[in-house]
Formats: sequence, C-alpha cells, structure tokens
Amino acid sequence: MNTENKFIPNDYIQNITDGKFSWSAPSNIALVKYWGKKNNQIPANPSVSFTLKNCKTITELAFSKRDQSTSNDNAISNFSFDLLFEGKLKEDFKPKIEKFFERIEIYLPFLKEYHFSINTQNTFPHSSGIASSASGMAALALNLMSVEKLLNPAMSDNYFFQKASFLARLGSGSACRSVKGKVVVWGNHQEFSDSSDLFGVEFPNTIHINFKNYQDTILLVDKGEKQVSSTVGHDLMHEHPFAEKRFLQAHANLSKLKTVLENGDLQQFIEIVESEALTLHAMMMTSLPYFILMKPNTLQILNTIWKYRNETKIPVCFTLDAGANVHVLYPENVKDQVFQFIKDELVCFCQNGHYICDEIGDGALQIL
Ligand code: PMV
Repeated sequence: MNTENKFIPNDYIQNITDGKFSWSAPSNIALVKYWGKKNNQIPANPSVSFTLKNCKTITELAFSKRDQSTSNDNAISNFSFDLLFEGKLKEDFKPKIEKFFERIEIYLPFLKEYHFSINTQNTFPHSSGIASSASGMAALALNLMSVEKLLNPAMSDNYFFQKASFLARLGSGSACRSVKGKVVVWGNHQEFSDSSDLFGVEFPNTIHINFKNYQDTILLVDKGEKQVSSTVGHDLMHEHPFAEKRFLQAHANLSKLKTVLENGDLQQFIEIVESEALTLHAMMMTSLPYFILMKPNTLQILNTIWKYRNETKIPVCFTLDAGANVHVLYPENVKDQVFQFIKDELVCFCQNGHYICDEIGDGALQIL
C-alpha cells in the first residue's frame, strides 16, 4: 500500500515527557530534474539525484511536554517552538516551519503536545546561493521521526526512513531525496518498481565504479537571493506550452540514466546530465512570465568546460540548480587534473573566487 494513509499513525504506546535528538542531512544535486508539481508536493515527473557529502544541515531538536492545564479547552490549538539558526533566534524562518507543521500534523499527531526548540546550522555559507531547504527539511523531518520512534518503539527502520522522506517532501519537494542513499529516485517511474511520488527511494541496483566518490565542485557564481523562487517556477509549468513533452522527456532520461549508472558510460552520462540542466533553464526561459537565472559568468563557465573537454577528452561536465551556480561533476580518477583546471580557468568566474568542493555522500546521519 503506497498511499498517504500508511503514514497516519495508530495510538502511541509510550508516554514521553522530554528529550533531545540531532541529525545531519545532506544537500543533493539532481541529475534528472524535478520541475513542475501537482497538489500536495506531488512531482509532475520523476527525478534522480546524487547525495552530497560536505554540504549539509545539522539540526538539533529538543522537546518537552506542554502543560495541557494552561490551555482553556484542554486541547492546545497552536504549535509551540523556538527556532535558532547558528545559535541565534531567527524569527523570519518561523513561518516556513509553522506551515510545515500544519501540513504534517495529521501524520505526526503529537506535534501540538510538545514545545520544540530547533537549533539548526549549515556547513555551507547561508548566502552562497545553495538552497538549504532540502537539507534543512530533511534534518528536521528525521528529528521528528526520532521523536515518533520514541513514542512507538516497534517502528521498523524502513518505515522510519520512508516516512522521514515523506515528511521532508511536504516541507520542500527535493528534500525527500536528502534522507537515505547515495543516489535517490523520487517519483513514479515504470522501471523502478518501488519508486513513489510520495517519498524518495535509494537507487536499487549496483552503481558502476566510475561513479564511486564522484566529484562535485560547486562554483558560486551568484550568492544573492534568486529573483524567482522555485515555488513560482514550479507553478509556471502548469500553463507551460512544452510541459507535457518535458515530463515525458524526464521519464525517458531517467530510463537512460538508470542504464548509465549501471554500465558506467560517462559519455552518455554527460549528455543526459547537461541536457537536463539546460532543459531546466529552457523551461524557465519559455514560461510566462519568462525569466533567466543564469548569469553571464554561468555561460562563461559552461563554454570553458566544453572547450576543456573537447581538447583533453577528460569526462568533466556540469549541472545547474535553479540558480546561477554551476556544479562541476567529474570522476575521482581525474580529480587532480580537473581541480587544477577549475582553479586555473573557472574560479575567476566565481563571486569573490568562492567555490565548494564536494562529492557523492551517503545520506543523513544521526548525531544524538
Ligand atoms: O525542492 P524545490 O521545490 O526547491 O525544487 C527544486 C528544483 C530543482 O532544484 C531545480 C531541481 C531538483 O530536482 O532538485
């Protein structure tokens, strides 16, 4: 049964007054992109991502039972939580969490019974243009699942991670790919029998050695706020003239990439991944209203990568998020040459020369 209902719990058997957990959850970079959604954060097409290792959010969640007697009608009607970012109270992040709690309350009926103190920090700079919503929502969802597991200790690991991914998705779609596994598929796809629109699943087959410790150097081209949010961008796919074809293409690209991840064909990998990145931005440029998130330096970087790849035949390629930054992807066995190339020819296009070295990682980790 793969419906939302399986995530509505039965009565909890334990009575817990307080406690504290801490989880780190990674960021992820999509290879086949999710762009366009239906109601309730259901993706319009399936996607697949590499989990990152160094870019992550670490969130500590302390909780204590609220005093029911202080409430007028014995049923507490609001959520109670403090939000600290890097140890300091952060009021402007609260509405997002409040909305998230509202969305997930039906699946975590204990939410109003506790006061929560959420203390969160990222390993990457806040104003780097790297979205922390995926790692942040995943880390929070995992903490909340740890609370639920205290209340219901019989819960299986499989259910724990599936529901954490399910909840994270309701916070920010791509966050469901930041919970478990090196390569994560999200969205129904006929060649992945366990795939679901409701949560991410680990890529089920053995991944070719060519992708072991695959490198991702993130070039920070523009660290400012995006002019158009992902939420608005997803919405514009509803009236988009090319939407249906794009969704079909994502299915086809995921099929191709499945084969490539198994057989290690890097030429094919490059073709699919770069085409996906450019298609994502093409969708933005052809929606109404239209917009461009790439900057002149983004294009400089893409052209320089193409030139270098043509000349050296080294299998380095790029992908893009919904922003101007460029993720430079390459195998571990060419790490030294490519890193030298990045320093010599690409860092000059980064804002203040900033970039982040990352690689494929394993997924979230419980700290406490
Ligand atoms: O999870 P959201 O709503 O921020 O959307 C993310 C969309 C892309 O990053 C552009 C693509 C993806 O699949 O991650």
